[in-house]
Amino acid sequence: MNRKIIVVGSMNMDMVVKTSHIPKPGETVLGGSFFMNPGGKGANQAVSVARLGGDVAFIGKIGDDIFGKQSAQLFDEEGVDTNGVLSDRDSPSGIALITVDDLGENSIVVAPGANAHLEPADVEEAINRYPQGKILLIQLEIPMRTVEFAADYAHKRGMRVILNPAPANELVSGMFHLIDIITPNVNEAEMLSGVQIVDIASARQAAEKIHEQGVKNVVITLGRRGAVLFEDGEFCHIPAPEVETIDSTAAGDVFNGALAVAVGEGKALTEATLFACRAASIAVTKMGAQSSIPFRNEVLLNGIK
Ligand code: RIB
Repeated sequence: MNRKIIVVGSMNMDMVVKTSHIPKPGETVLGGSFFMNPGGKGANQAVSVARLGGDVAFIGKIGDDIFGKQSAQLFDEEGVDTNGVLSDRDSPSGIALITVDDLGENSIVVAPGANAHLEPADVEEAINRYPQGKILLIQLEIPMRTVEFAADYAHKRGMRVILNPAPANELVSGMFHLIDIITPNVNEAEMLSGVQIVDIASARQAAEKIHEQGVKNVVITLGRRGAVLFEDGEFCHIPAPEVETIDSTAAGDVFNGALAVAVGEGKALTEATLFACRAASIAVTKMGAQSSIPFRNEVLLNGIK
C-alpha cells in the first residue's frame, strides 16, 4: 500500500446541540436543534486530508457498535484507507457531547471509549503496512504512550511528524525533538510555553519558547486572527480571511489536515499555513465536524492553489 499521509488518532460520534449560550456549572439551558455527525480529531483530520487531495490512511480504534461501523463506512466513502482501523469488542466507540453557541464557539466533552485502547503495538503493526508513508499526523485524543511511540517510530522511519497537541496536555521533554511541525491553538501554546498569548507579539514569544524546547517548526493557530509561524529562526504572521463564524468545531482539524496535504506536496511552510488558514476559514462557516470540511476546489475557488 502506498499511502503518504498517515493519521493516527481518535474517531468519535459527535452529539451536537445548538444553544444561545454555553451553560455555566449548575445551569440548564433550553437549546435548539440536535444532530449527530461523525467526528473525533483524528478522523476529522483524515477526512480533511482526503477532501483536500491527499493520499491518506487512518489508524485508530472503534467499538463494535453502530457508531463505529457508520464512521468506518463514511471513511470508505471519503477514500480514506481503513486497513488500520481496529475494532475493540470490549469498549464502545468514542462519543463527544458538543454545544455550539450563537457566536459559533463550542464546548466539548469526550467519552473516549475504544480510542483509549489504541496501543503502541496496534500502531506499529498498522504503520508497517505503509512503507511509503511520508508524514505522520497525530493528536492527543488517544493514550499518550501511543502518541509517544508513534512519533518515535515514524521519526525513525524518516517520516515527518506533525503533532496537533489537542486537547491540551503536557508533553514529555523527549518528544519535542521528534516533531517537525507542532500546531497548538492559543490555549495549548500557553500550556506548552508558559507565555500568555494576548496579541501577535506574545504569540511570537510563545512560538519561540516552544521552538527552544526542541521542535523545529511551530505554527500557532489564532482563530479569526489566522496563525503565526516560527520556522528556522524566521517569524511570520498569516492572517485568516474574514468570514462569518457559524460553528468553530473541527476548524483546527481542517487546518491540520490541510497543512499536512500542502507540506506533503512540497509547499513551503508559509504557503502551507496560508492554505490551511483558508481551508479552516471555510469550515467555520458550516455546522458540524466532518460535515463542515471543505473540498479542495472550494479552497481553490477562494484564491489559493
Ligand atoms: O476537534 C473537534 C472534535 O473534537 C470533535 O469532532 C469531537 O469529536 C472532539 O474530538
